[in-house]
Amino acid sequence: MTKSTLTQANGTPVVDNDNSLTAGPSGPILLQDTWLLEKLAHFDRERIPERVVHAKGSAAFGTFTVTHDISALTKANLFSEVGKETDVLLRFSTVAGEKGAADAERDVRGFALKFYTDEGNWDLVGNNTPVFFIRDPLKFPDFIHTQKRNPITNLRSATAAWDFWSRHPESLHQVTILFSDRGIPTDYRHVNGYGSHTYSFINSNNERSWVKFHFKTQQGHKHYTDEEAVNVVGKSRESSQVDLFMNIEEGNFPRWDVKVQIMTEQQAQEVSFHPFDLTKVWPHGEFPLIDVGVLELNRNPENYFAEVEQAAFSPANIVSGIGFSPDRMLQGRLFSYGDTQRYRLGVNHGQLPVNKPKSPVHTTHRDGSMRGDDNGGKEPNYAPNHYNAYVPTHEQEPALALEKAALHYDFREYDEDYYTQPGNLYRIMDAEQQQRFIQNLIASLSEVDCEQIKRNQIYHFYQADKSLGKALAEGLGVSIG
Ligand code: HEM
Repeated sequence: MTKSTLTQANGTPVVDNDNSLTAGPSGPILLQDTWLLEKLAHFDRERIPERVVHAKGSAAFGTFTVTHDISALTKANLFSEVGKETDVLLRFSTVAGEKGAADAERDVRGFALKFYTDEGNWDLVGNNTPVFFIRDPLKFPDFIHTQKRNPITNLRSATAAWDFWSRHPESLHQVTILFSDRGIPTDYRHVNGYGSHTYSFINSNNERSWVKFHFKTQQGHKHYTDEEAVNVVGKSRESSQVDLFMNIEEGNFPRWDVKVQIMTEQQAQEVSFHPFDLTKVWPHGEFPLIDVGVLELNRNPENYFAEVEQAAFSPANIVSGIGFSPDRMLQGRLFSYGDTQRYRLGVNHGQLPVNKPKSPVHTTHRDGSMRGDDNGGKEPNYAPNHYNAYVPTHEQEPALALEKAALHYDFREYDEDYYTQPGNLYRIMDAEQQQRFIQNLIASLSEVDCEQIKRNQIYHFYQADKSLGKALAEGLGVSIG
């Protein structure tokens, strides 16, 4: 590090950084000690709001490399040729805990990717699970309230969590994953990532197919039991952070195989399940995984606040060749992320170095708090204009046929099968996995202070698998009639 002179924010050198300016050796501090005032004032404003969910996280930079040609499926430039490399940022997280929460908690892990492509940033903001608890965004704030601290006790509440889950049987699939061995990964290198939603690919003939993204860890899966996790947390609240940072520091770069599942528009009309239902997986037998590339993390951030805390991932950030789908949850998320980031980081957060695309940005957005670039310089601030600045491409996606009549449609009218996929998941666990799963559920459900909630939830597990429901009823001492 080169020697440098300490300065105030205006660049003027600081005379003394140990002793405030006082009236005599034992007198009070003078208001004209501008360095002291500036230093305290800046410190007073160091914290920004933490993310409302996924507050605790760890991130690293790396590279995505194409290994297989999928250019027939998508015109997205990052997939244009085998061998093409794209810089990425991947932030892992837990969901419910605050920024200081322990890493080795039973929780879903966030898997948020930013691809700095030649044609803009593509953010794939996924999890380590292929499904989610709910399938309508209207329910997200209520769901998260049941995961966070109870406003009266200021404690997390198992009663609230199971009250919500038991009233939303569509959550059973994700709950089954959460209480299985995969619920407490040892660290972030040993998890898969999933885009989870159905997205679309658009190819150069302007044809659409539906796509799901998978990231399979090359490190394999590793988990803690509840007991092991208690010991880990007792020793370190930062177990995943240490693991990721140190492995990358030592050159042991984690990798994931990137794969996609593809469904044609025609198939989407014919499949037996709702193709845009986030609580369901697409069976791999019918929709096999197709190899695409490899993701490697190989560089630690140099400054966590600048490059991780200020990172803003949004499902709304897509690039040409990748599109959305009618998945209700995805539609809700398209609004929520940019909105929270305008609050958390400010309206110009896209200009922060970690969020800035490497391709040119030409918008008519102007002004706003903390505008850090040339604010559009001499360019016109409106479009269309006489100068041919800001010309849209007019390259539309193929038309998407939609139903016409608007209504608050109840998803249950389309799909009431909450139980087949979680039941199958339970039945492919070996006997020891099943035993641990049951014990994890019993431990959590025992904390519920309402018999009816326990009974409601056991009913759902019973519907998924009779022997599972019976084991839970017995373990919890609850009669299910
Ligand atoms: C973070 C909302 C569902 C994955 C966030 C944040 C909000 C949010 C407001 C904080 C973002 C920030 O401060 O930068 C929602 C809403 C959802 C939803 C309204 C449903 C309607 C999901 C789903 C997934 C997911 C289904 C995964 C498939 C994540 C991840 C982060 C996150 C990984 C952390 C991003 C980061 O590392 O900065 N979500 N979320 N969320 N969400 Fe969601």
